[in-house]
Amino acid sequence: MMDNLKRILSVDEMNPVDDLVLKLAMARGLDEIMALVRSQARALVGADGITFVLRRGQECFYADEDAITPLWKGQYFPAQACISGWAMMRREVVVIEDIYADDRIPHAAYRPTFVKSLAMVPVRMEDPVAAIGAYWSRQYLPSTEQLNCLKRIANSAAVAMTNVALLEDLVTSREEAIQAKEAIIFAMAALAEVRDNETGNHIYRTQHYVKVLAEAARERFAEQLDDATIDLIFKSAPLHDIGKIGVPDKILLKPGKLDRDEFAIMQTHTELGRRTIEAAERRLGTSTFLSLAKEIAYTHHEKWDGSGYPTGLSGGNIPLSGRLMAIADVYDALVSERVYKQAIPHQDAVDLIVSESGRHFDPDLIEIFSQVAPAFATIHSQFVDR
Ligand SMILES: [Fe+2]
Ligand SMILES: [Fe+2]
Repeated sequence: MMDNLKRILSVDEMNPVDDLVLKLAMARGLDEIMALVRSQARALVGADGITFVLRRGQECFYADEDAITPLWKGQYFPAQACISGWAMMRREVVVIEDIYADDRIPHAAYRPTFVKSLAMVPVRMEDPVAAIGAYWSRQYLPSTEQLNCLKRIANSAAVAMTNVALLEDLVTSREEAIQAKEAIIFAMAALAEVRDNETGNHIYRTQHYVKVLAEAARERFAEQLDDATIDLIFKSAPLHDIGKIGVPDKILLKPGKLDRDEFAIMQTHTELGRRTIEAAERRLGTSTFLSLAKEIAYTHHEKWDGSGYPTGLSGGNIPLSGRLMAIADVYDALVSERVYKQAIPHQDAVDLIVSESGRHFDPDLIEIFSQVAPAFATIHSQFVDR
């Protein structure tokens, strides 16, 4: 990347200060910024020591240094009683030729060190967040070039620290947006579920079953199942029954078996789910996430032999996401207790599902399911209904 930049800028023989300025501009964290200053500033400025001081409220933290003998790395000093604090609070560059003749200097802290002269430059003049100090072991007045070099390094560090802060803000707000989206999805899914006989953790369990199954199936369905798609299936699976929001309570909460008419109304939850997600798409614009969620909501009750609903799709015409969800959904319904039925044991549920290979379910997926079925049992025990 560095070489590319140099080429773009057509700087073949970049001077070392430019080189440091460029590297600082690309730094991705405070540690990297300080390491760059530590490793290069002393030689560039021509000093016997360099410190990188961070402002921490009312204190100055000597965070990093490069010097002929140790200075104050790791120590805190009150901003009122040290020269870096003085420079930061007044937003001024300080040059002191003889530190023992200057009463702004806490002499006791300097006596054990080699320092006789210094220059201190705030980082980010308008609102200093740090300072860079240069030190000499003899009484010395740095030249204009040396001071300019130090100021340039401090200015570049200021830009770099601002970049890092912006980047961190950006990452945080992106993460917050993702978390908010996931929370809303779960809230919507939970809303559908609380109205249903299926209680508690059905949405968590089914999304985990689907993930296990999709991961095991990725070799067989390599073209359709990559990391990103599996992750999206996992995230959109909780919405599979979102359409149940539109099914009347007397049907949804009926403690017994549904009659024909009631079952026909129950079946509309697939179409209602598709329409609900379509409404979201119209509002938010379409995304792979929403179209997968829609596909799953619409097709998770289709059957391999064409006898499912709502459209009677068969075989490979049923989207893979719907075929995966069907297995997860049925497994969970079988091994969970409902007001109208008992739970059946894990192995009985597996046998029943396997016996439906080629009828209800995709035979390829059933082969894979029989291999990973023990993981389904583990997931079921992890998210038990209370
Ligand atoms: Fe459903
Ligand atoms: Fe379900």
